[in-house]
Amino acid sequence: MAIQKVGVVGCGLMGSGIAQVSAQAGFQTVVREVTSELVDKGLKGIEKNLARQVEKNAITEATKSEIRGRLKGVTAVEELKDCDVIIEAIIEQLPAKRELFSALDALCPSHTIFASNTSSLNITEIAAATKRPQRFVGLHFFNPVPIMKLVEVVRTIATDLAVYDEMVQFGAKLGKTPVRAHDGGGFIVNRLLVPYLLDAIRALEEGVGSVVDIDNSMKLGCGYPMGPFTLLDFVGLDTTLYISHIMFDEFKEKRFAAPPLLKRMVLAGWYGKKTGRGFYDYADPANPKPMSL
Ligand code: 3HC
Repeated sequence: MAIQKVGVVGCGLMGSGIAQVSAQAGFQTVVREVTSELVDKGLKGIEKNLARQVEKNAITEATKSEIRGRLKGVTAVEELKDCDVIIEAIIEQLPAKRELFSALDALCPSHTIFASNTSSLNITEIAAATKRPQRFVGLHFFNPVPIMKLVEVVRTIATDLAVYDEMVQFGAKLGKTPVRAHDGGGFIVNRLLVPYLLDAIRALEEGVGSVVDIDNSMKLGCGYPMGPFTLLDFVGLDTTLYISHIMFDEFKEKRFAAPPLLKRMVLAGWYGKKTGRGFYDYADPANPKPMSL
């Protein structure tokens, strides 16, 4: 099957990034959000990214217009009905995802392949809300999507092997390096990344080092682009807590259990960069200051 038209559900941080790389890779792309304000917000972010690429001479103004011409923002799910692939990047809540895919299943032709960008929910359980679990995969992208080169392509026990191979090729066509992962909690990246981030919080709780010293240790000692606390604030503490709950529930191992400090920070509304406070205070975003915790 030749994939020509791609649907993306959700035009937030991840959805808009996925829509951008899809249009940039040459696919007609329809991206859906619940309100026209949210559609506009997402498309504005994409336009800003494309404008930055023009400024840096990475693409021409003409290419930017072509990419923009392949992108359509919509609010009605019905507008996705003739897509060959639909990638979901909505809120990380199982009932919402199951409800969406059940509606899409009734709407879309039998050849349409469904994919979820969930970072930790069980793909098998989302796919079970449709009558096409054999045409269902996980496509897990990384933030910021236009920059990060990886996509995890997740196969469930029900995914048809030919569909899976096609989605691995599709990941490469999007300009990403696809890796094959099974539908085990957290796939590959979060299986390794989440215990590392939680351990950094435990190290802080135990007084091993300060926020800045632990960040600098991993940045300058190991060459990581961001230290664990900068990355936690970037990913979102609410998101990390949510993922850790799902992974702990799956594996029942301490390394996936949320440290008390993480819970307290989320309860206080300190979700990281997006709320202006996390392990750092972003009152001056160019110069974040470590919080005293
Ligand atoms: N959107 C688009 N482009 C962006 C961007 C964004 N949000 N942020 C930065 N960029 C671009 C910049 O324009 C710049 O492009 P250029 O090289 O062509 O000039 C390039 O990225 C580098 O940006 P900066 O020079 O401003 O800053 P850095 O060198 O510090 O890079 C970073 C920023 C790419 C975010 C880098 O710090 C990094 O790789 N951090 C780690 C990110 C990471 O680990 N992401 C995965 C999170 S886990 C996840 O998403 C999974 C989920 O399930 C939890």
